Amino acid sequence: MVTSCGQISSPVLVLLAFLFLHGALSRAANDTIAKGQPLYGGQSLVSKRGKFELGFFQPDNSSQQWYVGIRYNQISTSDIVWVANRDAPITDLESSQLSISRDGNMVLLDHRNSPIWSTNVTNMASSAVPMVGVILDTGNLVLAEASNTSAVLWQSFDHFSDTWLPGGKLGRNKLTGEVDRLVAWRGYKDPSPSMFSLELDPRGTSQYLLNWNSSEQYWTSGNWSTADHIFTDVPEMTAANPSHGFPYTFGYVDAGNESYFTYHVEDDAVVAHFRMDVAGQVKFLMWVEGAGEWQQFWSQPKAQCDVYALCGPSGVCTENALPFCSCPRGFRRRRPLEWAQGDYTSGCARDTGLRCGARDVNGGEDRFYAMANVRLPIDAQSVVAASAGDCERACIDSCFCTAYSYNGSCSVWHGDLINLRDTSGIGTATGGGGGTISIRLAASEFSSAGDRSRRLVVGLVVAGFVVAATIIAVVSIVVIRRRSPRACKASRRVAEGSLVAFTYRDLQLATKNFSEKLGAGAFGSVFKGSLTDDAAQPVAVKKLEGRLQGEKQFRAEVSTIGTVQHVNLIRLLGFCSEGTRRLLVYEHMPNGSLDRHLFGATSSHLSWEARYQVALGIARGLDYLHGKCRDCIIHCDIKPENILLDDALAPKVADFGLAKLMGRDSSRVLTTMRGTAGYLAPEWVAGTAVTAKADVFSYGMVLFEVVSGRRNARQRPDGTVDFFPSTAASLLVGGGDLMGAVDGRIRGDADMAEVERACKIACWCVQDDERARPSMGTVVQVLEGLLEISVPPIPTSFKMLANPSKKYVEFFTCLPST
Ligand SMILES: *[C@@H]1O[C@H](CO)[C@@H](O)[C@H](O)[C@H]1NC(C)=O
Ligand SMILES: *[C@@H]1O[C@H](CO)[C@@H](O)[C@H](O)[C@H]1NC(C)=O
Ligand SMILES: *[C@@H]1O[C@H](CO)[C@@H](O)[C@H](O)[C@H]1NC(C)=O
Ligand SMILES: *[C@@H]1O[C@H](CO)[C@@H](O)[C@H](O)[C@H]1NC(C)=O
Ligand SMILES: *[C@@H]1O[C@H](CO)[C@@H](O)[C@H](O)[C@H]1NC(C)=O
Ligand SMILES: *[C@@H]1O[C@H](CO)[C@@H](O)[C@H](O)[C@H]1NC(C)=O
Ligand SMILES: *[C@@H]1O[C@H](CO)[C@@H](O)[C@H](O)[C@H]1NC(C)=O
Ligand SMILES: *[C@@H]1O[C@H](CO)[C@@H](O)[C@H](O)[C@H]1NC(C)=O
Repeated sequence: MVTSCGQISSPVLVLLAFLFLHGALSRAANDTIAKGQPLYGGQSLVSKRGKFELGFFQPDNSSQQWYVGIRYNQISTSDIVWVANRDAPITDLESSQLSISRDGNMVLLDHRNSPIWSTNVTNMASSAVPMVGVILDTGNLVLAEASNTSAVLWQSFDHFSDTWLPGGKLGRNKLTGEVDRLVAWRGYKDPSPSMFSLELDPRGTSQYLLNWNSSEQYWTSGNWSTADHIFTDVPEMTAANPSHGFPYTFGYVDAGNESYFTYHVEDDAVVAHFRMDVAGQVKFLMWVEGAGEWQQFWSQPKAQCDVYALCGPSGVCTENALPFCSCPRGFRRRRPLEWAQGDYTSGCARDTGLRCGARDVNGGEDRFYAMANVRLPIDAQSVVAASAGDCERACIDSCFCTAYSYNGSCSVWHGDLINLRDTSGIGTATGGGGGTISIRLAASEFSSAGDRSRRLVVGLVVAGFVVAATIIAVVSIVVIRRRSPRACKASRRVAEGSLVAFTYRDLQLATKNFSEKLGAGAFGSVFKGSLTDDAAQPVAVKKLEGRLQGEKQFRAEVSTIGTVQHVNLIRLLGFCSEGTRRLLVYEHMPNGSLDRHLFGATSSHLSWEARYQVALGIARGLDYLHGKCRDCIIHCDIKPENILLDDALAPKVADFGLAKLMGRDSSRVLTTMRGTAGYLAPEWVAGTAVTAKADVFSYGMVLFEVVSGRRNARQRPDGTVDFFPSTAASLLVGGGDLMGAVDGRIRGDADMAEVERACKIACWCVQDDERARPSMGTVVQVLEGLLEISVPPIPTSFKMLANPSKKYVEFFTCLPST
C-alpha cells in the first residue's frame, strides 16, 4: 500500500466511516432536527418517504458560498425548491450548523456561532416546550413541538423562495395585510432575491400580479371568477380543470382572516410546481422522468420581452433570441459574469462617454445611431419639433438627452433607456414593426480605427498636461497653506487641523457676551464678535441649539467642515465644545445675506452683472461642496438667507455641513429639521433618499429669484398664486420675451443672452425627476457659456399649480393657507 502525503490511509478511512455511520445511527430520526441534534454542515435530512432532502448546497461551486435548502430527492433532478439564507450565504461549511436554539427557534449558525438565519418566532408558547424541525414529504420544513408535530409554529410554506409547491398557499393575511411572495433567483447560480415577484394583490382584490421591484406591475391574472372557477385573464385554466382529467385540484379561498390560492396534485407520482423564473416569467412545470426534464405547461407573461426592465438600462430584448438580451451599438454588457448567469439587470454601459456639447478637437459633437423596428422605451418626453432635424437638435442640445424618435411628433429620452425591444422578427399584426429610435453616441463611435489611434495620441498628450497641471496645483496649495499665518495665537487651546478650539470664555469676550445678534437660522443664533487679539478681524459666532452630538463626533465633523475651503464657501475659523455648549466661529460677511439685496426695501439693488456673478459663484461653491472636496456634502438648505455677500459682493454659501453636526439617527430627522418650503425638492417631500440633486433644485429656485428680484410665490388679490418660475418656464417654452421677467429695477441693463441662459438652467434645475436635473458642475459650465442647453420641459409640478390641489400649492410656494 502506497500512501502519499495527499492520501489518507485506509485504516483512517475506516475509522472516519465508522464515526460517520455512528453519527447517523445515533439520530432519533433522519428527518428531524432536535435540541442537541443539529444538522452539521455537509449533512442532510430526508423526509419520511424520501421525497425531499434538507441540506447544505452550493449553487456555484466556483465560489465558497453555501446555503441551506430543500430539494427533490427521488427524481433525477436535484432542483432546489426552497432556500433559507437566500441573501446571507455561509462561507465555512464544516463549522456551520442548523440547530434548535435555546429559545426554541431553528437557527443557522456560521463558524463564529452567530445566527445567519432564524425562524424568528417570537410568540413561542414557552421555551420549556422542546421543539423540533422536521422536513415533511410535501417539501415543507416545519418547526413544531417535539411531543406533537401537528402543533406547527413556523413552516417554510409560509416563506416561499421562488418555488410554490403543491399544498402551499400563496395569499394575503387580512389581519396584518402581509402578502406571500414568490421571488425569483437573481441568476441561475445566485439564489439571492431578484426584482421579479409574484404575489396576490396587496390592495385586496383577488388578482395575482407579477411585479418588478414590487412597484412596476407587468402582468395580472385578473380577478378570480367563482362562477367559472378560473382567473379571468387566464382562460387556459378551464382546460386544466379536474373534470378534464388533469391530476390537479385548485381553488381560490377567501376566508375571514386570509385569502389565498392553493392547488394539489392528486397523483402521488406526479412532480410539479409553480416557479418564478430568473427571467421574470411565472411557470407551471411538470417533471417528465422519461425525458429527464421539466416540461412547461403554462407561463406568463407569454412574451419574454413583456417582462419589465428584463434587459436592464439600455439593454435590448429580442423575443425568441438566445440570449434574449443584448446591447445596442456603442454599448457593452455592464457585468458580463452576471449576464452569463441569466441576470441582465445591470444592463448595458457606453463604450465611450458622451461629449455633451463640448466641441473640441478630438471627436466633435455627439451623433446618432438609428435603430429601426423597435418598441420604444418607457418614459418618453414629447418635445415640439417641426422636423426630424429639429427633434435631433432638441436632443443634442440637452446634455441629458440619450435618444430621440420622430414619427411626425418628437419624443426624447433622458437617462437610461428601459424596455427597449427589437421587434424586427415580429410581424406587424402581432404588434411588431414598431418605430425607429435614434440613440445618441459619442462621435468617435462612428469613425475609423485610424482616427482612433490618432485621437489616442492627442488624448494622451492632453492627459499628460492635465496630470502635470494637477500636480502643480496641489503643490502650490500645499505651499500656500503652509505659508499662511495661523489665524489666531497659539495661546489658544489645541487646534483641530487649521481650526482653533476656543474656550467658551474666549467667545463670551469676543461677542461682548453675545450682545450683537446678526440673525437666527435653523441651527441656532449668530452673533457678531471680534477676536480680541486681532481686532481687525470681525467674526460671526454661531451658538448651536437643539439635539447635539457628543464631543468626539462633533470634533470629527467640525474638522471635516474645516477642510472645506473655497472662495464661494464661508470659511470656518474655529469652534468651541465645552460641556453641552457647541459654538462655531466663522468669517464675518459685512454685506449680509442675499435676501436683503433681492427683496429688501433698501435703495441699493444688485446690478444684472452682479447678480450673474452671484449666481455663478453660488454654483461654483456648491459644485465644490458636492464633489470636489474630500467628502461629498449635501447642503440641504439652499436659500437666499444662506448666501452671504462679502465686501465685493461675491457670494459665499453658509451653513453647509451642519446637518451632520446634529444627532442624526435617520434621514427623516434630517428632513423635518432642514429645508425650507419653497426651495425643497419634490423627492424630499416624498420622503425618499435625498441626493446632491436636491441642492440643485433649491439652487434653481434661488436663481429664479435672482432674476426676478422677488420671492417666487406671491398671492394675488383674488387669492390665486402668482408663481414666477411657472411664468418664466412658459415664456421659455413659448418663446416669449424674457426681458419682462427680469427685476424691473434693472430691466434696462440686463444682458438678454445671460437672462435666457439663467432662466433655462434654472428651469432644468427644478425638474421633478432628479435624473433630469444637471449637476452643479454642468450648471457652472452653462453659466460660463461653455455649454449650450436646450429649452427645458415645463416641470409637471408647475402644471399642477395651474390646477392645484391646495396642499401642494401651500407646500410648494410657501404661502400661508387661507
Ligand atoms: C440521512 O439519510 C441520508 C440518506 O438516507 C444520508 O445521506 C444523510 O447523511 C443522513 N443524514 C444524517 C444527518 O444522518
Ligand atoms: C463543479 O465544478 C466542476 C468543474 O470545476 C464540474 O465538473 C462539476 O459538475 C460542478 N459541480 C456542480 C454540482 O455544479
Ligand atoms: C428576526 O426578526 C426581526 C424583526 O422582525 C428582524 O429584525 C431580524 O433581522 C430577524 N432575524 C433573523 C435572523 O432573521
Ligand atoms: C397536537 O396539536 C394540534 C394543533 O395544535 C392539536 O389540535 C392536537 O390536539 C394536539 N394533539 C395532542 C395529542 O396534544
Ligand atoms: C377585481 O375586483 C375588484 C373588486 O374586488 C375590482 O375593483 C376590480 O376592478 C376588479 N378588477 C378587474 C380587472 O376586473
Ligand atoms: C426599487 O424600489 C425602491 C423603493 O420603491 C427604490 O428605492 C429603488 O430605487 C428601486 N430600485 C430600482 C433599481 O429602481
Ligand atoms: C382568525 O384568526 C384568529 C386568531 O389567529 C382565530 O382565533 C380565528 O378563529 C380566525 N378566524 C377565522 C375565520 O379563521
Ligand atoms: C408617433 O409616436 C407617438 C408616441 O409613440 C404615438 O403616440 C403616435 O401615435 C405616433 N404617430 C404616428 C403618426 O405614428
